[in-house]
Amino acid sequence: MTNNEKYLVTTATGNTGFQVAQQLLKNGKRVKVMSRSRGPIIKTLHDMGAEITLGQLDNEIDMKKAVSGVQRVYYCHPIIPGLLNNTTMFSEVAKQAKVEAVVNLGQYLAELQFHPSRSTNEHKNSYHVLNNANIGACHVTPGWFADNVFATSLFITQLGRFPFPLGEGKCPVVSNEDIAAVSVAILQDPEGHGGKCYQPTGPKAISMEDMLIIFSRVLGRKVKPMPMPTGMFFKATTQMGMHPYMISQLKYYLKDFQNNVFNYEPTDVVERFTNRPAENFEVISRRYFQHAGLMNKNFSGLRQALKQFIQIGLSRAPTSHEMELWNY
Ligand SMILES: NC(=O)c1ccc[n+]([C@@H]2O[C@H](COP(=O)([O-])OP(=O)(O)OC[C@H]3O[C@@H](n4cnc5c(N)ncnc54)[C@H](OP(=O)(O)O)[C@@H]3O)[C@@H](O)[C@H]2O)c1
Repeated sequence: MTNNEKYLVTTATGNTGFQVAQQLLKNGKRVKVMSRSRGPIIKTLHDMGAEITLGQLDNEIDMKKAVSGVQRVYYCHPIIPGLLNNTTMFSEVAKQAKVEAVVNLGQYLAELQFHPSRSTNEHKNSYHVLNNANIGACHVTPGWFADNVFATSLFITQLGRFPFPLGEGKCPVVSNEDIAAVSVAILQDPEGHGGKCYQPTGPKAISMEDMLIIFSRVLGRKVKPMPMPTGMFFKATTQMGMHPYMISQLKYYLKDFQNNVFNYEPTDVVERFTNRPAENFEVISRRYFQHAGLMNKNFSGLRQALKQFIQIGLSRAPTSHEMELWNY
């Protein structure tokens, strides 16, 4: 393995990529971050010492430029069309550039025998492609990010209502920070991890009921469930700017949560790689609300939440037929 190695982080402005890049930079590593444009997150990473490479995951010239001079890669592909094609191209480009270690962000669902989601199946096939490329790839395979539910932070904190229709399901939800910490530990010491899958989890499987209790404790005021029919939930995701392809995949993942598919045993992966326990949902919630300045109710927050509520009603969600076409 090379000394003074350089790391590439793709999707560096995303949930996990930003954390991975930050943690590597804080550890004094040489880091190149990839994004389609120079926004505020890229500026933050640049100010921390990151080299910037602009480009798209589906563009071979951009990917060649991104992996040039790099030995280790955090490869994260967002839920957008083209995951398998783009990962196949990345594998080839990384092999030519003699990349020596890759942490690929995968999915727990891709380890199941069968799953109807196109994205999950593309993840599953991409593991084989990466494993066969001889670039020291391993796969970090979380189930359900805690992050998902904080898209509704305004409703939770300002209206005291939690509108995520998680049903009766449970999951040991995991923080972006812990997914990143596991990935960073592997990237910094990649010997022996090639071809393996590691599933980071939170410390305990929790339900929507548990989340409501924790939100109420963190905020010091009661948070109640908000009945949210699935159709309305998809309108909300549209209003938040989610791409219809992503919504078509979320349809499966939400049903999986409701059907308890994510209720697996917590693993010791976070503790094993970081020598500390995985973050619990209370710690994660407090960080989100504090960071967003939403610990207290205020007039502007309340107005924003009500405005968003009205906009959701006026949004148009993709139809079932449109979702099927995206998943095809
Ligand atoms: N959410 C979950 O519960 C969950 C669970 C298990 C696995 N996963 C896996 O996690 C991966 C996603 O990781 P993540 O949440 O860290 O990433 P993410 O936050 O979804 O990534 C978003 C970033 O993707 C970049 N991007 C590149 N091309 C894009 C395009 N054409 N359209 C939109 N965005 C584009 C954007 O960065 P720029 O604008 O800077 O280019 C954007 O900031 C997926 O592979 C998913 O299967 C998610």
